[in-house]
Amino acid sequence: MLIFLIPAVIGLLFLAFPDGAAGSAEKGQAIAEKHCSRCHVVGALNPMGGIGSTASFQMIAKMPDYLERFQTFYARRPHPAFLRVPGVSRWSNLPAYATEFSITLVEVDDIIAFVKTLEKMPIRGKKSRFQNQRR
Ligand code: HEC
Repeated sequence: MLIFLIPAVIGLLFLAFPDGAAGSAEKGQAIAEKHCSRCHVVGALNPMGGIGSTASFQMIAKMPDYLERFQTFYARRPHPAFLRVPGVSRWSNLPAYATEFSITLVEVDDIIAFVKTLEKMPIRGKKSRFQNQRR
């Protein structure tokens, strides 16, 4: 039963706060720096950081539906394996494979407000250093 309720609750929250209008970009940046930058490149915070196979925040922010992706990221793989959200039940009792942390839905709105500031950020410079090399 609960398994059907979770998407319904997430959907309702998304309707209530479609674009994270209530969030604080400053708080969102601090949360992203502390938790998300372990795996994601987060704007200009850690350009050489993150895990190579994980999309940068500025790349996700280029997708037309990125606000929905960030609004529901805690229910999207791989996050449920290591992220706890008060009121959202664990997906499994297996041990987390990455350091666990928890986040509130208010903090999700803060992250959205911050990610909106990355929408126009280039994914990388116009020329890569390889384009300058003669072949
Ligand atoms: C332990 C590593 C790890 C941490 C920490 C992490 N992520 Fe992710 N995240 C991933 C990986 C890996 C993917 C790509 C999943 C895929 O492509 O299937 C991803 C994908 C995403 C996506 C796109 C999801 C989709 O389905 O389109 C969003 C949005 C996202 N992460 C937001 C966040 C935010 C916000 C935080 C911090 C609060 C965070 N992530 C912390 C590993 C992580």
